[in-house]
Amino acid sequence: MKEIDWSNIPFGYMPTDFNVRCHYRDGKWGEIEATNSDTINLHMAATCLHYGQEAFEGLKAFRGKDGKVRIFRLEENAKRLQSSCDGILMAKLPVEKFVEAVKKVVKLNERFIPPYESGSSLYIRPLLIGTGAQVGVSPSKEYLFLIFVTPVGPYFKGGFKTSPVVILRQYDRAAPLGTGIYKVGGNYAASLVAGEKAHEMGYAAVLYLDAKEKKYIDECGPANFFGIKNNTYITPESTSILPSITNNSLITLAEDMGLKIERRQIPEDELSTLEEAGQCGTAAVISPISKIDDLDENKSYVIAKDGKPGPVCTKLYHKLRAIQYGDEPDKFGWITIVE
Ligand code: PLP
Ligand code: COI
Repeated sequence: MKEIDWSNIPFGYMPTDFNVRCHYRDGKWGEIEATNSDTINLHMAATCLHYGQEAFEGLKAFRGKDGKVRIFRLEENAKRLQSSCDGILMAKLPVEKFVEAVKKVVKLNERFIPPYESGSSLYIRPLLIGTGAQVGVSPSKEYLFLIFVTPVGPYFKGGFKTSPVVILRQYDRAAPLGTGIYKVGGNYAASLVAGEKAHEMGYAAVLYLDAKEKKYIDECGPANFFGIKNNTYITPESTSILPSITNNSLITLAEDMGLKIERRQIPEDELSTLEEAGQCGTAAVISPISKIDDLDENKSYVIAKDGKPGPVCTKLYHKLRAIQYGDEPDKFGWITIVE
């Protein structure tokens, strides 16, 4: 294997040794199989291609100082995939099957788990798709679940540092009663135009407002939003955002650190009162926000006055990473060690 510079890998796809797959046919899930092929053979009328029957997950495995491999919140991701299956009528994958498949694919690709010192990790990407041929709009009778893994560095350039985000009022990512709460591909397709526009203008991500009133903060492109003020962790309550497992974990950590928690609507105007703000997610970890521009309204909310991550974001970031890498005890039961 070519030497990998583990500390400088991007957030991208790198081939590994194996992926694992499991088929749903005749009303039941089959056995988990490993393969070294990175392509799939798919019927041209498969529902995933035409009608978007596709859901995915994202989680990470970390190598600790002790050499052990830790997967963060494995069962929560399994449950969220089930929720996505319910949301777009796909065969539901049992939690145990998900857990078994993740452990297997991580073990099979152990040599791709970055060393502790690098600060990188192994990104685990489960995918569930409708594979049955259908022309009328109806759910498939057959499904494929697969997982690939790939070593990754930070999602946002430069790792833990502040970056600007932008509100683009011409675009919505998800409707209030639509699929925003599920991790399905269509939501990401819907975010591509705005996302590219934001990147071209030098922003790290789009900060979406609620689609109905355009008044409340929803979430950032690939991450949830949170703000800090008056010793309080505030994060949006919305029917169109993904329930982020990282955000839930940060809420627990913030509470444990003595912060108050508020999960509620956040009017855009309130941004001017925040002491800190961040994007959070598996890929993003915590990405502190420097400023938020609302271009159409000609407003700019400067959050990090000195351009640096604030003290609460910094503390939460280090706490979360310490648990993930096993530097601190797993006091909330979030870690699965791969034996
Ligand atoms: N919101 C969106 C739209 C996402 O794609 C993600 C990434 O998974 C998140 C939020 C963060 O969720 P999690 O913390 O579970 O990774
Ligand atoms: C994640 O954080 O796992 C994501 O899915 C974000 C993005 C890469 C889609």
